[in-house]
Amino acid sequence: MKDVVYPNHLGIIMDGNGRWAKERGLNRSLGHKAGADNLVNLLDYIYKNTSIKVVSLYAFSTENFKRDKNEVDYLMKLFVTLFNSKLEKVKKNNIKVVFSGRRENLPKSVLDAMDKTTDDTKNNTRGILNICLNYGGDYEIVDMTKTVAKQVLDGTLNLDDITKEIVSKKLYQDLPPLDFVIRTSGEKRISNFMIYQSSYAEYDFPDTYFPDFDSKCLEASLDNYRKRDRRFGNAK
Ligand code: FPP
Repeated sequence: MKDVVYPNHLGIIMDGNGRWAKERGLNRSLGHKAGADNLVNLLDYIYKNTSIKVVSLYAFSTENFKRDKNEVDYLMKLFVTLFNSKLEKVKKNNIKVVFSGRRENLPKSVLDAMDKTTDDTKNNTRGILNICLNYGGDYEIVDMTKTVAKQVLDGTLNLDDITKEIVSKKLYQDLPPLDFVIRTSGEKRISNFMIYQSSYAEYDFPDTYFPDFDSKCLEASLDNYRKRDRRFGNAK
């Protein structure tokens, strides 16, 4: 492993699958398949060659349910296939898989595959793979607020004891803050991705579509990250 700085928590907004497919005259779904193949290689590279501990992926936003039914159905099947077929690999890499998002509206087949993946990897220690599925950063804050409010109402938490540490623990997953977020495809938006956890994250917006975003592209983004002067509000 190279003796260089890596972000502790990396976020990836995997964008551009549809445009990748369109440019090749293919159905959008084939772009997602190509994106998934690329993701498997990219994660392999990350676990073998870097010291990145936590990876958060934007797999499916709450808004993505507005897409064409065929595309949504394809993605749901792709998730099930991927979770089931890559489980052994994830276990071998000693990675704990967790999910962020709302369970409502997800098909039972997806929920079952998610639950099995979570359960089978819960004691793994090399790193965490956080998959944001049926996820919205705004809903995450709404759901956290409800959890905290319930605790205040039932007397297990005092109003004055609510700190940012408590808030962080009551989000979908208790994860360290994001250090670096990459959004592929050239779009320069964060689209509701982990808005609480990214308050001091650095960003990179490479033009490459996600299916083509290989380990060389990742290293180029990581080089950009290393050039950033992270001051967290401090003066120079
Ligand atoms: C955005 O591209 C991508 C998605 C909505 C799906 C991402 C899913 C994968 C890469 C599959 C594997 C993921 C996991 C975590 C198992 P887009 O369709 O918005 O592309 P466009 O902007 O070019 O239309």
